[in-house]
Amino acid sequence: MSSTRRDLLVRASATGILLACEAPSSGSKDTAPGDTGLDDTGGPDTGGALDSGDSADTAENPDTGDIGACESWGEPDSACEPTPPVGEGPYFREDAPERQQLNVRGESGYQIRLELRLLDESCVPVEGAVVHIWHCDQTGIYAMDDAEFHARGKATTGADGGTCFETLRPPPYTDGADGFNPAHYHISWFVDGVQTYTSQLYFEGDPWLTEVHSQELVTTPEDDGSGSRGTIRFTFVLGSLPPPEEV
Ligand SMILES: [Fe+2]
Repeated sequence: MSSTRRDLLVRASATGILLACEAPSSGSKDTAPGDTGLDDTGGPDTGGALDSGDSADTAENPDTGDIGACESWGEPDSACEPTPPVGEGPYFREDAPERQQLNVRGESGYQIRLELRLLDESCVPVEGAVVHIWHCDQTGIYAMDDAEFHARGKATTGADGGTCFETLRPPPYTDGADGFNPAHYHISWFVDGVQTYTSQLYFEGDPWLTEVHSQELVTTPEDDGSGSRGTIRFTFVLGSLPPPEEV
């Protein structure tokens, strides 16, 4: 990724809901997703197996994991509605490393700059919160026992409640029956060391989204014009909501 392309990053607002993760059985390598309804960049349409990606259009500075400074957030809105939670699912690993470059294997795929912020119910930025992100690889598999913790990481929010990550858009993966879970990121927020809130983010146009997935969690990455890289900018708001359902 050239600095020029990086500089072209644009942001996207997003709103959306939930779904929990019913991923493939165990993260074994023989559960490729097959026809997901998405093309090999994660865009809708062509179907077919997703690129497993050995070569890579990796994010910049893969050796150091340096993704550059997160874009700052302005003043939060005066009214904040709690963001819908989603169940954690079976693939969380609490010992994931603190880092912001999650594509540690250098997989090929649609690159995403994930700019996240956490506010409390009064719209006050939550500084010092730790957010974990995890998602499946480009074959629809979660890394459950690799030492590198591919597609996993955590970061701490700054004074504006924000932090950011570089990773890929994940593909849908089998639901273990006849369909697929829509593509999603898992996100879990820890405040004062306590796992406080967990949810997911989805992608507009995903053919596997249904009524059980909250529209408030559906995002539209803003492409930088290359067709291969975009930014999601999303604010989570803590609130008193019922426990999430596992779906
Ligand atoms: Fe999942």
